[in-house]
Amino acid sequence: MVLNGRNSLVALVLLAIAVAGSEVEESSVLSRFQQYLKINTAQPSPRYQEAADFLVSQGKALSLEFQSIELVAGKPLVLLKWEGTNPNLPSILLYSHTDVVPSEHSKWAHHPFSAHLDSNGNIYARGSQDMKCVGMQYLEAIRRLKAERFRPLRSLYLAFSPDEEIGGHDGAEKFARSEIFQGMNVGVVLDEGLASPEDHYRVFYAERSPWWMVIKAVGSPGHGSKLYDNSAMENLLKSIEIITRFRASQFDLVKTGFKAEGDVVSVNMVFLKAGTPSPTGFVMNLQPSEAEAGFDIRLPPTADPESLERRIAEEWAPSSRNMSFSFKQKARTCDKSGKPILTKTDPSNPWWALLENAVQKAGGKIGKPEVFPAATDSRYFRERGLPAIGFSPMANTPVLLHDHNEFLHKDEYLKGIKIYESIIEAYASLDHQGRDGGSRDEL
Ligand SMILES: *[C@@H]1O[C@H](CO)[C@@H](O)[C@H](O)[C@H]1NC(C)=O
Ligand SMILES: [Zn+2]
Repeated sequence: MVLNGRNSLVALVLLAIAVAGSEVEESSVLSRFQQYLKINTAQPSPRYQEAADFLVSQGKALSLEFQSIELVAGKPLVLLKWEGTNPNLPSILLYSHTDVVPSEHSKWAHHPFSAHLDSNGNIYARGSQDMKCVGMQYLEAIRRLKAERFRPLRSLYLAFSPDEEIGGHDGAEKFARSEIFQGMNVGVVLDEGLASPEDHYRVFYAERSPWWMVIKAVGSPGHGSKLYDNSAMENLLKSIEIITRFRASQFDLVKTGFKAEGDVVSVNMVFLKAGTPSPTGFVMNLQPSEAEAGFDIRLPPTADPESLERRIAEEWAPSSRNMSFSFKQKARTCDKSGKPILTKTDPSNPWWALLENAVQKAGGKIGKPEVFPAATDSRYFRERGLPAIGFSPMANTPVLLHDHNEFLHKDEYLKGIKIYESIIEAYASLDHQGRDGGSRDEL
């Protein structure tokens, strides 16, 4: 088509208006994200009320039903709802946590609560990856769906929960066991994943269970000059050697590419405690009668917890070597019926295929399903037999959660909104029951 001068001028002006309009839209989307990032919700004293007020105001602006629930005083959980046209179908829970880990301000290029947008388009803030991005992307996706007059068939809930970074006991754990949660009739949960430095997104269907173990050795004390067998120090060191060899064998499986990080048992020494204190440090001419070491162990859902415990009792801390062991935490890898706690990724779980297709439709790629290497709040939902998918749409992004200079590029953030728009549309439109996909079948 050939445009005459006047028409092409009109077309140009319209184009300019459209571009300016989308720039205004982009800057308000980013500024809402920055507003959330600027609220200092760092442990150990997060400003939960400020975050809750902000989130409730966002919910109101989108005409969502809202409540702020204090399962524990001073720790509000904000619950927003977009009711579906068939509220009897199991609902969809878009889950995120509001707290973030502490940061060493002096080691950051920009203050961790400045939400500084640099000239490259990177937004620096604690929580930009973990996981205020996701919480706001859910809201922005809903804003777009509402603008397009989309009507969800299933009800959608958004939960913004406290305390994930300190174990979720006063947040997700209580929430998942509450009557409120039961009343929500949740069919599937979306929760956090990890950034991916490659151009595909990462998705998680399970996580490793933490076992925090302390081993203790006892032995006869003796003069620092004396050579003798079976001191507490010697007994502990033997254990540390054995555990170190086990650690290397697991790590080799990862290094050689036979297994992914989430599929091996990791074990790392986190403390050593021994010696006889003196005002100037430690007594130097005395071999102590006790020595302890602490280990953070993580078990994939496919590991055999009984055989590991036998290994601990027989090799890592055998009573024959005057050693004992105890656990500061010992999370289950199986549910009450003995099945590994995981979300199915096969066709028996309709939510999985829906997510993959929706991401593809929005121009994203998904990698192989993975086991999350650490713990997230997803476990409290999976424990109840619910499918929970760990997904934070950040590709081409270094993994900086809990690190200095955590950032997210604005274009990745904006793309993630489109990805969620596509997922939410697909999930909220699924018209059959689809309550499968968890580790238990009876639900
Ligand atoms: C364990 O402790 C007993 C009693 O103190 C001692 O006789 C024995 O030699 C110790 N054994 C080892 C392997 O440390
Ligand atoms: Zn997180």
